[in-house]
Amino acid sequence: MITDQFNRVHDYLRISLTERCNLRCFYCMPEEGIRLRPRSELMSNEEVVEMAKIFVSLGVKKIRLTGGEPLIRNDAKKILEDLSKLPVELAITTNGILVNDYIDTFRSCGIRSINVSLDSLKKEKFKFITRRDYFDKVISNVNLLLKENLHVKVNAVVIKGVNDDEICDFVEWTRDKNAHVRFIEFMPFDGNKWEWSRGVSFLEIMTKIKNQFGEDVVRIKDGKNDTAKNFSLRNYAGTFAIISSITNPFCDTCNRMRLTADGKMKNCLFSQTETDLLSAMRRGEDIAPLILETIWEKKKLRGGIEKMEDFSKQKNRTMVAIGG
Ligand code: 5AD
Ligand code: SF4
Repeated sequence: MITDQFNRVHDYLRISLTERCNLRCFYCMPEEGIRLRPRSELMSNEEVVEMAKIFVSLGVKKIRLTGGEPLIRNDAKKILEDLSKLPVELAITTNGILVNDYIDTFRSCGIRSINVSLDSLKKEKFKFITRRDYFDKVISNVNLLLKENLHVKVNAVVIKGVNDDEICDFVEWTRDKNAHVRFIEFMPFDGNKWEWSRGVSFLEIMTKIKNQFGEDVVRIKDGKNDTAKNFSLRNYAGTFAIISSITNPFCDTCNRMRLTADGKMKNCLFSQTETDLLSAMRRGEDIAPLILETIWEKKKLRGGIEKMEDFSKQKNRTMVAIGG
């Protein structure tokens, strides 16, 4: 078991397959994009699977593929197929654009849960946020996933003056859709011009929803290592949740580890340090001790960020280079 000094057992690995993306969400990526690492520095499909096997041998029960946009990789199908043979729950986070090309693969690989990033239900606003014109494609793919009876979570990063007027629209959208909307507090990463004044807190989100839906809002049970606080509305097909990394972090039950597309391990989204597993693996070293050590060093809270003021002082990667 991979355990840290605070007795947290780590059995969930998030692997970023690429730093590239077909969108440019302003809270994730600078407009000009990022300097991409040369291909040789990134994990090949074989290396991704080899890494996954080692983590699984250490007790990992769930693997989520992220990016950038994971489905953009031309060997994504092969990776999904190979990973599906491991004894883990396999999940994926995508922006939805390419989902229709992968629906058969999802089915054959036994993927049951998909997270789709979607920050607006309005075409023009989607374009403003993502700097690309793929709204119709994403909506039709969300509907496709729902039709296929997959468990669909829709991630919306809430930003003041941008999409906070759509919070109730999103909730209303779940009236006849078995979708699970998750409102995410805006988090700071390199290149995303973060200021908490642009963020919308758990409390503000909840207040807007309560004002509109009142007593119909019901708190429901969270999963064991859930990062979200979950709610449902009476007689609605879907649910909503709030992920409050800023105002109400959930670090005490954290079970997650991250592997970037260039094979660096991060013990926290906000960690200031990385462990270069890929280079060690390429040198033929046993990486299991490195993994255990990296988690042992994990900080209690948000990579050591205790106070709100400290967020803006920290150096990190851009989100697109960490993996969502
Ligand atoms: N704050 C909060 N969430 C973010 N994501 C990306 N950047 C940020 C940010 N700055 C989330 C998106 C996406 C996932 C990949 O990461 O919601 O769903
Ligand atoms: Fe791409 Fe997701 Fe980042 Fe948007 S948030 S740019 S979809 S990786």
